[in-house]
Amino acid sequence: MDLRIRNRRAIIAGASAGLGYSSAMALAREGVTLFISARGEERLRNAAETIARETTASVTPVVADHGTREGRQALLKACPQPDILVITCSPPKATEDFREISEEDWYGSVTTTLVGPIELMKATVDGMADRRWGRIVNIATGAAKHPTELRLLSGPTRSALVNYTVALSKRFAKDNVILNNLLPGLHATPGLEKMLSDRAERNGSSYAFEEQRLIEFFGMPTKRLADSDDFGAFCALLCSDYANSIVGQNLVIDGGTIHGMF
Ligand SMILES: NC(=O)c1ccc[n+]([C@@H]2O[C@H](COP(=O)([O-])OP(=O)(O)OC[C@H]3O[C@@H](n4cnc5c(N)ncnc54)[C@H](OP(=O)(O)O)[C@@H]3O)[C@@H](O)[C@H]2O)c1
Repeated sequence: MDLRIRNRRAIIAGASAGLGYSSAMALAREGVTLFISARGEERLRNAAETIARETTASVTPVVADHGTREGRQALLKACPQPDILVITCSPPKATEDFREISEEDWYGSVTTTLVGPIELMKATVDGMADRRWGRIVNIATGAAKHPTELRLLSGPTRSALVNYTVALSKRFAKDNVILNNLLPGLHATPGLEKMLSDRAERNGSSYAFEEQRLIEFFGMPTKRLADSDDFGAFCALLCSDYANSIVGQNLVIDGGTIHGMF
């Protein structure tokens, strides 16, 4: 299926690994011109090379931390007028006890998971409206809808991000600028692998044990980690020309973890 976005220009903020990378790869397969960012240079360059080689799309890597003003400026300098904006980051650290969260932890989470995405949306959405075409997707977290103590540094700021994004989506829908959020559950990514390795080290257990423990803790009906590439395909669909009436939705992709019909 042709998603009708060939030659569109996309910023994927946070795309050297995990769900951002899979989304970038899926967009590149559709012939989208990519500007992908991350903080770590080597992994970013490798990701850009792999995507370009496998798809023949044009891929420009931009080393940038979008939690900082300078990082966002660097990204927007490389691509001032994106048609598509996808924003993500690494999962904030897991917290066993709310008392272990410091004030600095909160500032770190707020700047990366909330202020960064908000400022990138603010800087690009008017241009999309002027050009009468735009797609914005935040890759946030199922914890935005499903609060747990373990994800306190991830869920609350994403609930705020979802609130902001949905509010903007109503204003810009008439301009064919479509904003949505994807809310992942447990996906096999380097970010989750790091979380599981840290827990195994801290608890003196194994990686496989911690993986099963997390799946059981969240009560995932599928009983397995979800696939990143499947997720990327859905992100590309929300960035497609066909998404023009999907306005301000928060699509949970979590193997059925969250109970609720709507
Ligand atoms: N994987 C899961 O099971 C899971 C579950 C629930 C929610 N999520 C959410 O899904 C999203 C993606 O997670 P993931 O597992 O794919 O993460 P990941 O594997 O750690 O990949 C994150 C990507 O974003 C980049 N990044 C992180 N912080 C950044 C920043 N401040 N500026 C620019 N780039 C940044 C990373 O590269 P650098 O480190 O080099 O910057 C990397 O390319 C996150 O919002 C996470 O909370 C994931």
